[in-house]
Amino acid sequence: MQIITTVAALTAAIEEAKKSNKTIGLVPTMGALHEGHLSLIERARKENDLVVVSVFVNPIQFNNQEDLAKYPRTVEADCEKLQGAGADIAFVPSVEEMYPEPVETVYHFGPIEEVMEGPRRPGHFSGVAVVVRRLFDLTQPNRAYFGEKDFQQIAIIRNLLEQIKYPIELVPCPIVRAEDGLALSSRNMRLSAEARAVAPNIYDTLQQAVEMSECEDVESVHDWVLDTLASFHEVNGIDESLKFDPEYFEIVDDTTLQPITDWDEAKGVVGCITVWLTGVRLIDMVRFR
Ligand code: PAF
Repeated sequence: MQIITTVAALTAAIEEAKKSNKTIGLVPTMGALHEGHLSLIERARKENDLVVVSVFVNPIQFNNQEDLAKYPRTVEADCEKLQGAGADIAFVPSVEEMYPEPVETVYHFGPIEEVMEGPRRPGHFSGVAVVVRRLFDLTQPNRAYFGEKDFQQIAIIRNLLEQIKYPIELVPCPIVRAEDGLALSSRNMRLSAEARAVAPNIYDTLQQAVEMSECEDVESVHDWVLDTLASFHEVNGIDESLKFDPEYFEIVDDTTLQPITDWDEAKGVVGCITVWLTGVRLIDMVRFR
C-alpha cells in the first residue's frame, strides 16, 4: 500500500491507473478507523482494481470548533488497518494540501438539508460536499463508498452527484454494529467505560420502536423514543451524568427525508436519531419499512 500525502503524487498514481484501464473505488474517511470503515474497504476491494482510502479530518464540515479539536486522530494505526484491509492507496493530505486557497464554494441541497442534521449543523453538508467533490476530482473513481449510519449524508452525496453530473456509482453500505448493538463510530472512542455500557440502549430503543410501529401511529412512536431515552437514567436508576440527551429523532421518507405522519405515506421509512451522551454526539438510524 502506498501512503500518499500530496495532490501531485495522488494525481500521478491515478493517471497511471487510468492508463491501464483500472477501475477505482474511493472510500472517503476522517480516520479513527473501525470495522465499519473496514467493511466499506472490503466491499470496494471486491468491486474495483484500485482502492483509494482518504484519511482527512475535514475542518470545513465542523461547525463546532471544540468538536473539531476533539475529533480522534490516529493516523499511524489507521494506515496499519488500511494495509491489512487491502487498500492500495491511503491518501493522507494536510489541510493546506487539500485547501491551498480559502474555500468559497457553497453547496445547497434544498429540502433534504433542511431537516435533521442540516439546521443543527449550519454549513456542515456544504463542507462535506466540498471535500467529497475535491476527492472525486482527484481520484476520478468509478465507485464511492459511504456508510448508512450517516443516512442524510448519503442523500446529500446523491444530490451532489446529480448537481455535478459525475458518472460515479454511489454505493451505500449497511451500518456495522458492535455485538451489543451500538453503531460503530469513531466518536465511540470518546465514551468512558460507563457511558459505553449504556450507549447500546439507543439502538435497543430504536428496535423496540420498530416493533411498536406495527400497532402504534407515527407520532406515538416518535414521542415514545424521545421520552424513553430522556428518562432512561431515571427509570433504570442510572447516575444522572450518564443520561441520554436526545437532540432529535425524525421518522422520515427514506428518499425525500421529509418527516411522515402516517406509515403508508412513503414506500421506505427510516428513523434517524442523534443523542448526546457525556458530551459525545452519537448518531444512529433504523428502518421501519
Ligand atoms: O462520513 C465522513 O466520515 C465524512 O463526512 C466524509 C464523507 C469522509 C467527508 O469528510
